[in-house]
This record gives sequence, C-alpha cells and structure tokens, in this order.
Amino acid sequence: MTTGFSQATSRLNQVLLAAGLATLAISSPAVAQAQTMRQYQFGVFDDEVRLVMKEVAQPTPGANEVLVRVRATSLNRRDLSILQSQYGGGNPRTGLVPLSDGAGEVIGVGPGVTRFEVGDRVAGIFFASWVDGRPSARTNASARGGAIDGMLSEMIVSHEDGLVEIPEHLSFIEAATLPCAGVTAWNALFKHGGLVEDDFVLLEGTGGVSIFGLQFSVAAGARPIITSSSDEKLVRAREMGAYGTVNYRTNTEWQDEVRAITGNAGVTQVLEVGGRDTLPKAIRALGYGGHIAIIGGLSGFANAMPIGSFIGRSIKVTGIYVGSRADFEAMNAFITQHQLRPLVDKVFTFDNAPAAYDHMASGNHMGKIVIASF
Ligand SMILES: NC(=O)c1ccc[n+]([C@@H]2O[C@H](COP(=O)([O-])OP(=O)(O)OC[C@H]3O[C@@H](n4cnc5c(N)ncnc54)[C@H](OP(=O)(O)O)[C@@H]3O)[C@@H](O)[C@H]2O)c1
Repeated sequence: MTTGFSQATSRLNQVLLAAGLATLAISSPAVAQAQTMRQYQFGVFDDEVRLVMKEVAQPTPGANEVLVRVRATSLNRRDLSILQSQYGGGNPRTGLVPLSDGAGEVIGVGPGVTRFEVGDRVAGIFFASWVDGRPSARTNASARGGAIDGMLSEMIVSHEDGLVEIPEHLSFIEAATLPCAGVTAWNALFKHGGLVEDDFVLLEGTGGVSIFGLQFSVAAGARPIITSSSDEKLVRAREMGAYGTVNYRTNTEWQDEVRAITGNAGVTQVLEVGGRDTLPKAIRALGYGGHIAIIGGLSGFANAMPIGSFIGRSIKVTGIYVGSRADFEAMNAFITQHQLRPLVDKVFTFDNAPAAYDHMASGNHMGKIVIASF
C-alpha cells in the first residue's frame, strides 16, 4: 500500500530524476525544498540597471501549475530596451526575472494539471494568461519578463494554460525563439494581413521579427522584399528566399527601389518595425489595398499617420502586440507543416547571459540570439 507521504516522495523523486538530480537521496519534502537553482534578476545600482545572477529556492508547482526546466531562452529588442530603462518609461522592477521567451521540458506537475505531463517539451507564451480571443488589460498585465517574471531562470513554474507544446522537429534552442518574434510576425502576416501567394511583403532590417516574416512569406509562396544596412546580410537573405533586397543605408530612398521591384504596384504587406525613420517610407512603398502591421520603434515610435493616404489607397492598419496562445499554436502548425527552422544567429551560455544583451546592442545579429541553459 502506498501512503500519501510515499506518493509525495515518489512524485518528488520523479521531478528530481527528470531534473537530472537522480543521485540525490530524498528523505523528506523539506530536504527537496532546500534545493536551489540559479536565475537572473534585474538589480538597480546607483540608477544603473544590471543583470544579477541569484541562487534562489527551486519553485514547487501548485494546483494547475507546471514545473519547467528551462533549456533555452531568447532575446527580443524589448529585453534590451527594458535593461536600458527605455521600455515603459523607467527602470524595471528590482528582482524581476528577464526575458519573455524560453523553452524547456516539464519536470513536475501540480494537482489538477491535465494539459501536460513530465517529459513534455514546452515553451512559455508571451502573455501568460492570453489563451485566445481579444487581449485585455488583464492579459496585457501577464507579459513575461516585463509585467511578470520571465524565463531567464533554470526552472520556472507556470499555470498550465501559459504553455504550448513545441514542434517536434525543433530543438529547445530553436523553439526558444518563437514566443515573441515568431508569433508577432505570424499574426501580422496571416491573422491580420491575410497573406496570400504572390503578395509582396516588405520587411525592415534582418532582426528577429523580420527574419520570421521572411521565412513565413517564403513558405507561403509570397514575395518578400527585405532591407538591411549590411550587404552581407542581404546576400544571406537572398539565400533564404528573399525576392528582393535593398540596402537602406546606402540607398536612403529605399522605398523607391522597393516599389520598383514590385513593378511600381507597391507592396501588399509591411511588417513595420523601424518606427519614426521607416514608417513614412514604408507607407510610400505600400500599394492599393495593402496592409501595414505597426509593430516596433527601432528608431523611436512614429507619432504621425498620413490618414489621407490610408483612406485614398484603402490601406489597412493594424497595431500588433504579439498574440495569444491560440495564435502560437496556429503558427506552430504552420512551422511543422513546412518544417521551418528559426534562424539562430548565436548561442550564449547561461553564465554568459549579459554578453547576449551586448551582442544584440551591437546590431551585428541576423535572426535570433539565444541563451542555452544546459
Ligand atoms: N509589437 C510587438 O508585439 C513586437 C514584438 C516584437 C518586436 N517588436 C518591436 O519590433 C522591433 C524589432 O524587434 P526585433 O526583436 O526583431 O529586433 P532585432 O532583432 O534587434 O532587430 C534589429 C535589426 O533591425 C534593423 N534596424 C535597426 N534599426 C533600423 C532602422 N532604423 N531601419 C530599418 N531597420 C533597422 C537592423 O537590421 P540590419 O542589421 O539588417 O540593418 C537591426 O539589426 C523593435 O522595436 C521591437 O520592440 C514589437
């Protein structure tokens, strides 16, 4: 006969076994609770925000919660902006765990969990409580790595609703790139843009969102035109299937070149990530009935909109803020169908996480920057 205590101990052992701590002899839950893990938190020192590695108690999953051993995380421009106190107008909260994006394996489940079991491969969704439907103040308040703790931790506990299974053909490193940039590009193109074959798609720069946009467009049979400050990156973009490429640094009136590539019809879709410097030009590159997804502000947020152009050319404008779990799942189905693999620029170790931020700040990357835990 098994007692409640031995069941609990066995469950604990199952968790620890999955966590690679199999050699530990567990005699009571109190011993297990003494186990620690490492995680990064934001610390503020003389008004300078830094990443601080902390040794903290391993979390325990409660009702409907899942314990995930995080195997890889990825950076988005937002994460750098948060570190630089340029996101939401101030320093991040001291003690906040950074990064919205991460993937790992389930190593424990709390009572009542039905969606996952130990061994499942999962990723966190960007808004931990946005499952489906429209966003709300409540879902916005669940943004990982900003409003709530993020993924730059050896383990996390999440409500089971805040996770998705990752595509089987992807490694943890690849899957860790999906939650923010992938879902954003997916929603911009398919959910809001209604992308169809042969559409001309304008992508600005070769960062995370734009490269997902390139891969999705190519897979859908559309014609992506991508800009970059680097000719070398543009060569690589062509190898990935870009229909047209323009260097926005050497050709400052790049929107004319983009229009020329479309036979002067203008593009049908824009993933607008550049903001102040790019928005007016991107609108000039748009054709009649086109769609522009307002996503980012790499050069600062644009604050003027040419309403006359929108009306005159029947342009559709959508503000995008990542997306829901249902959007993530729809994207995963597409990624699986087309066996797509995210472009991983460089992988940093967990110990060296601050260097991943420096790499993003350098602007030398193409695609996604990843931190692998172990
Ligand atoms: N609304 C949302 O839900 C959402 C989601 C994700 C990201 N975003 C926003 O979208 C933007 C891109 O994010 P990300 O994570 O993809 O960034 P990222 O990976 O850091 O991409 C940066 C790249 O963009 C290009 N770039 C930089 N400044 C540019 C400019 N003025 N004009 C054209 N291209 C420029 C550069 O590419 P080259 O080196 O090729 O020149 C740079 O390497 C950010 O503003 C981010 O906050 C918003």
